[in-house]
Amino acid sequence: MSDIILEMRNISKSFPGVKALDNVNFTVKTGEIHCLVGENGAGKSTLMKVLSGIHKYGSYEGDIIYNGEVMRFHSIRDSENAGISIINQELALIPELSVAENIFFGHEIMKGRLVDWNETIKQAEKYLERVRLKINPRTPMRELRVGSQQLVEIAKSLSKHARLMILDEPTSSLNEEDSENLLNLLRDLKRQGVTIIMISHRLKEVVQIADTVTVLRDGSTICSMDARETPVTMNQIIRNMVGRDMANIYPERREKNIGEVLFSVKDWSAYDHKLNREILHNVSIEVRRGEIVGLAGLMGAGRTELALSIFGNTPGYRITGGKLTMDGQELSLDSPRQAIQHGIGYATEDRKRNGLILIQSIKFNTTFANLEALLKGLVISENEEVVQANRLKESINIKTPSVQQTVLNLSGGNQQKVVLSKWIFAHPRLMILDEPTRGIDVGAKYEIYSLMNEMVSKGMSIIMISSELPEVIGMSDRIYVMCEGRITGEVSGADATEHNIMQLATDTEVV
Ligand SMILES: Nc1ncnc2c1ncn2[C@@H]1O[C@H](COP(=O)(O)OP(=O)(O)OP(=O)(O)O)[C@@H](O)[C@H]1O
Ligand SMILES: [Mg+2]
Repeated sequence: MSDIILEMRNISKSFPGVKALDNVNFTVKTGEIHCLVGENGAGKSTLMKVLSGIHKYGSYEGDIIYNGEVMRFHSIRDSENAGISIINQELALIPELSVAENIFFGHEIMKGRLVDWNETIKQAEKYLERVRLKINPRTPMRELRVGSQQLVEIAKSLSKHARLMILDEPTSSLNEEDSENLLNLLRDLKRQGVTIIMISHRLKEVVQIADTVTVLRDGSTICSMDARETPVTMNQIIRNMVGRDMANIYPERREKNIGEVLFSVKDWSAYDHKLNREILHNVSIEVRRGEIVGLAGLMGAGRTELALSIFGNTPGYRITGGKLTMDGQELSLDSPRQAIQHGIGYATEDRKRNGLILIQSIKFNTTFANLEALLKGLVISENEEVVQANRLKESINIKTPSVQQTVLNLSGGNQQKVVLSKWIFAHPRLMILDEPTRGIDVGAKYEIYSLMNEMVSKGMSIIMISSELPEVIGMSDRIYVMCEGRITGEVSGADATEHNIMQLATDTEVV
């Protein structure tokens, strides 16, 4: 067996108005973990879609040489047959089906003309064991947490006998523990001879796990670094990604203007009908004008539930007690619409489901939550719409030629920036940001943090939910920590450390 499993030679790929890949060269050694990094829109996902036949042969230039042979994949099935499997940024599992059905979806185990259920369950158990997921294969997919869903995707790839596994930002929606598990699993798979290509914005993970790191910038290969001989550092990666040194990860906030209490939640409790239990217990928090309040906690601590219920969006659960006040006035919110009318905004962690209308343009998505701002007399000024959308696109650097571009065609990170520009445009008094930098590259993170600083300097208030502790600590004036639906502590930004927050998040005694 040759020690090179894959060579992509001079790959170019264009979309209308965008040259996504420009003569990219990419070489992967057999049995290694190869990390592919780069800024949002650099072309990482596109390169992997070329490799896996999603962008089929003929739609790109250049050659894919796999195990010494030139490949011409016309579909994802072709690449799968060759032993390549891709797990996309958006998981492709079907929530209504069981775990076992999902694993064998599209390559069912048959007995004559019927699906062989006994064998399906048996085989599913085998693959679940390989990914160390201890669940019944009959469990419906929708009951699994994202971390476990991710593992089912890997089990599915294994069941197709993948030799080269591509994972596009597999840890972006996982918490620390699930990410750690996943990385360990990747190390296991490597020992079993599977070659892995992983795209990630979490550079800390990249330096931990990569044998080789390749950096793409603006559709070109910048460098490929061997991490086995000399360890690659985060700084090296960042420098190659953004083309310069970055002195600070968090922008300085020049003047702080923290005023009176703007918004408060008192003794807020909620009951979940599906889980049959209380999911929020007497939560009380306050947010001052011009303040950034962090909400930390582990997955499942109730942070998103708190945010959604404040925002008047309570699917499947009922508020059983407590009150909200804005400027001293009690609020009663039955819907997100009312929340928005009272000046509350919520940028969701799940941009696909709640945040954006994907088939519409950037312009549309930016302005539709606040069309009043575009009124000239009684009509909406389309001119003004383009001007405003463009201004925001420039200020947070959404990478695409025009605001007329459909959001669906943007890279993951750039979609996230559209979510933010929509809310900046709506100009709420209290902005709730749920994992605002998920899937966002280091440079763009800096831009988003700067925007947050700008928002609060204008008197807006922000509640930021984030699972990245350095980010919560780096950005917040004050931090509330949640554990199992309760507030377990409050720390000032200056006193916060990863250690004391983790203790509160796991509700363990200080040692
Ligand atoms: N189907 C498409 N139609 C038009 N443009 C596209 C399409 N897919 C990707 N692009 C453009 O190609 C460029 C590269 O996008 P790609 O998704 O590969 O970036 P990425 O490196 O994966 O970024 P991210 O880290 O944000 O996921 C971007 O400018 C994107 O807008
Ligand atoms: Mg991508």
